[in-house]
Amino acid sequence: MASSHNLLLIHGFPLNASSWSQQISGLSDAAKVLAPDLRGFGGSTLDLPRAMSMDAYAEDLKAFLDERSIERVVLCGLSMGGYIAMSFLARWPQRVEALILANTRAGADDEEGLKGRERTAVQAIEKGMAVMARGMAPKLLSDCAIRERPELYEKVERMIAEARADATAAAARGMALRPDRMEWLRTVSVPTLVITSEGDELMPLETSKAMVDAVPDGRLVVIPEAGHLSNLERPEDFNRAVREFLLGL
Ligand code: MLT
Repeated sequence: MASSHNLLLIHGFPLNASSWSQQISGLSDAAKVLAPDLRGFGGSTLDLPRAMSMDAYAEDLKAFLDERSIERVVLCGLSMGGYIAMSFLARWPQRVEALILANTRAGADDEEGLKGRERTAVQAIEKGMAVMARGMAPKLLSDCAIRERPELYEKVERMIAEARADATAAAARGMALRPDRMEWLRTVSVPTLVITSEGDELMPLETSKAMVDAVPDGRLVVIPEAGHLSNLERPEDFNRAVREFLLGL
């Protein structure tokens, strides 16, 4: 199949581009797959402000595309990557062919959530990423994966443990700044695929349904037996959903 689409994959918090390894290999016949590390994560050694807003990540991604003379992309963001994808689309709609929002939400943080962001930022800096990783990893995968797929669990835990604490703190503080995008979703003029998983405890199914109802041209895929990181836990299902969406564009 000719790769007429550019698929820009935007990773979640506090992961890196290697979380997309199975999409890079599994979807490269359907699109030119681009999976950069967000600022401060993975191989990115760039400096960070105290709070890295979703707009600031989106600006980095636009620069990434400009450097490669890539005009239009299908944006695919998972969780925090979804927040960034929405920021990108809001600012540069002409650069976006279609939108994929995976295991994410359009609402802003409530008061409790905002306090939690600051706690996360302080914990990353003061306690370190190994402690964060032990606390976070169990929330990102389904019980079944935690029980039966120790290699996957270890991969996720290691990815978090190896993340930079300052990048994690800046991302947590940046997420706190993001606006509520529920009303804005009604103005999205590109085809939109919303992916979620049956067992995502961080982003409940209702959240994804509300997003699909809001966008004018939206469809929903629910991946069975997976937790928050659907692309890592069920890559075949995830890739099938993306592939079918790309074929329909
Ligand atoms: C993520 O996976 O990117 C985060 O859970 C998003 C968030 O904390 O809101």
